[in-house]
Amino acid sequence: MSDYLWFEGIPFPGVGTDKGILEEIGDKFVVRDEDTIILTYPKSGTNWMIEIVCLIQTKGNPQWIQSEPIWKRSPWVESEDGYQTLINQEGPRLISSHLPFHLFPKSFFSSKAKMIYVIRNPRDVLVSGYFFFHKTNLVKNPGSLIKYFEWFLKGNVIYGSWFEHTRAWLSMRERDNFLLLSYEDLKQDTRGTIEKICDFLGKKLEKDELDLVLKYSSFQVMKENKMSNLSIVPEDVITNGLKLMRKGTTGDWKNHFTVAQAEAFDKVFQEKMIGFPRELFPWQ
Ligand code: A3P
Repeated sequence: MSDYLWFEGIPFPGVGTDKGILEEIGDKFVVRDEDTIILTYPKSGTNWMIEIVCLIQTKGNPQWIQSEPIWKRSPWVESEDGYQTLINQEGPRLISSHLPFHLFPKSFFSSKAKMIYVIRNPRDVLVSGYFFFHKTNLVKNPGSLIKYFEWFLKGNVIYGSWFEHTRAWLSMRERDNFLLLSYEDLKQDTRGTIEKICDFLGKKLEKDELDLVLKYSSFQVMKENKMSNLSIVPEDVITNGLKLMRKGTTGDWKNHFTVAQAEAFDKVFQEKMIGFPRELFPWQ
């Protein structure tokens, strides 16, 4: 287990992140108009979205997703490897990021690059994060869900507070080049949501191509795809037995929160997300 890398008061993964990159990314990284960015708070369905977008690009042909690791198909701009890959990559790029709004490359805000921002019930994000991160070398091990719950509400987890992250990025929701989606909508109406993504990206898929996107991005197929299930991530980052595709459901928090925790969470949610319409949060 490694310690965090602290940057501007936010804890970042202690492995694979470089302070120099975080310092220069905001001003120096040039987002191009033809780029597509997938931005999420960790554990919101990021890899699912990456898989879907890759499959849309290939019109459902699985060759790419079965031959190249997911983090190479859509590199993480804030990671050491991803940053280098992206600055040297020509043509339209697929870029992943968990960066908070104020640390993201400023060039994006005046570009026509398209961003897909996926939100998820933060209670499920918390539970998913707890079960995922304690099997990695990326974060401090909380030891118990009780501890992790406390850290999460205080924003003392990687990439900082879910509430701050979400509040800030939601300010972009009226922009034409910003598509706000939720994990819950994606679960409930996968086909309809994928069609929305196709429209946003300007891709027209035939029905049988869409069927293939659905098939190859399904939980079960992703779980078995070595290029997507993180089973080939080097051992200095992820310890044995980690499962990215854990449950893939909505509302799992109900199996883990006590009544007191559920109430405490509700209270913080109301306070921190005041002013945002309820419809933005389809789990409420
Ligand atoms: P759970 O831990 O609740 O199962 P991220 O990619 O941002 O790290 O998010 C991981 C979460 O997305 C995990 O949630 C994982 O199971 C879920 N997920 C990944 N692929 C999925 C898919 N194809 N369908 C549904 N959920 C998926």
